[in-house]
Amino acid sequence: MKILVTGAAGFIGSHLTERLLNQGHQVIALDDLSTGRVNYLKDVAAHPHLTFVKGSVLDQALLGKVLDGCEAVFHLAAVLGVKNTVDNPLKVIEGNIDSTRNVLELAYQKKIKVIFASTSEVYGKNTELPFQEHESNRVLGSTKTHRWCYATAKALDEHLCFAYEKMGLPITVIRYFNAYGPRQNGTQYGQVVPKFIEAALKGEPIPVYGTGDQARCFTHVNDIVDGTISCLDSKANGEIINLGKDEVTTINELATMIKRISNSTSLITHISYEEAYGKGFEDMEKRIPDITRAKELLNYSPSLNLETGLKQTIDWYRNNISEKNERP
Ligand SMILES: NC(=O)c1ccc[n+]([C@@H]2O[C@H](COP(=O)([O-])OP(=O)(O)OC[C@H]3O[C@@H](n4cnc5c(N)ncnc54)[C@H](O)[C@@H]3O)[C@@H](O)[C@H]2O)c1
Repeated sequence: MKILVTGAAGFIGSHLTERLLNQGHQVIALDDLSTGRVNYLKDVAAHPHLTFVKGSVLDQALLGKVLDGCEAVFHLAAVLGVKNTVDNPLKVIEGNIDSTRNVLELAYQKKIKVIFASTSEVYGKNTELPFQEHESNRVLGSTKTHRWCYATAKALDEHLCFAYEKMGLPITVIRYFNAYGPRQNGTQYGQVVPKFIEAALKGEPIPVYGTGDQARCFTHVNDIVDGTISCLDSKANGEIINLGKDEVTTINELATMIKRISNSTSLITHISYEEAYGKGFEDMEKRIPDITRAKELLNYSPSLNLETGLKQTIDWYRNNISEKNERP
């Protein structure tokens, strides 16, 4: 198939692009390089079926051109990260809503299936676990709390997907749960796995926010990509599908594992949410996906355990953090 991947030079997008090419697809990789790196596609740069286009999904003329002749689009381009959400709410709102509207409208005109990358954040601070795609409520706090604007923007994107589906566009919404792996951006977004690894490798304090008892389901990017590609199957049309591993790890456990696996001398420190994100920040205690639907529809079976996945990820950071200790 000829496939457009937006956000193709990003963390998940670059792994997805590599896999699609390895499976024999032709890939148009679109990225504005705001946080992505061309370097992340270096292993496939010379691939005859890859076309890299530097540009924005906010540019409708360009988007129309790159969509021509495609049979599917994986829409991953987004502005994300808890830190970004708190610091740059307007960027987050525009970067998610306007871009998705463009992708859906043009895909609708050209009759191209859309697979949209959404997030477990849309469940908000719901405490009824595990989260089920159709049954679980979204529980969000005040609109004065910027933390919720990413979840709200992604939820509105999902509504847009289903509005276009109602008009006949095949779409699939996937909700990722804490993806991790090589090439993830820790510095700009404050994503916890790369942030802890970078600190551990530099011998700096590993900063745990809050009590560290918050629990998440960390999912290796290879498993995320498996599930994402399976959504090309028409069985996934019109569905919302959780993609994650239903194995729970607290942030304290994560910090301890990363320190041990990387043989780091770093101290694990605790920092209050207020110190990290300012006054009024809210977080959710636990996030666990119900992956029954992914198993049934996609034969999804996330297999990489956290210990093995972290070893592989730490090795990548060890080999890629520059001498100046800059993000690779
Ligand atoms: N990483 C996770 O744990 C996670 C969890 C839930 C959802 N997601 C979603 O998965 C997708 C990919 O996330 P990621 O972790 O790979 O992030 P990422 O920042 O590494 O990737 C996003 C990519 O989009 C590009 N981009 C941003 N705005 C653009 C624009 N206007 N036009 C073109 N390109 C643009 C960036 O340069 C970057 O390469 C996002 O939609 C994100 O919301 C990720």
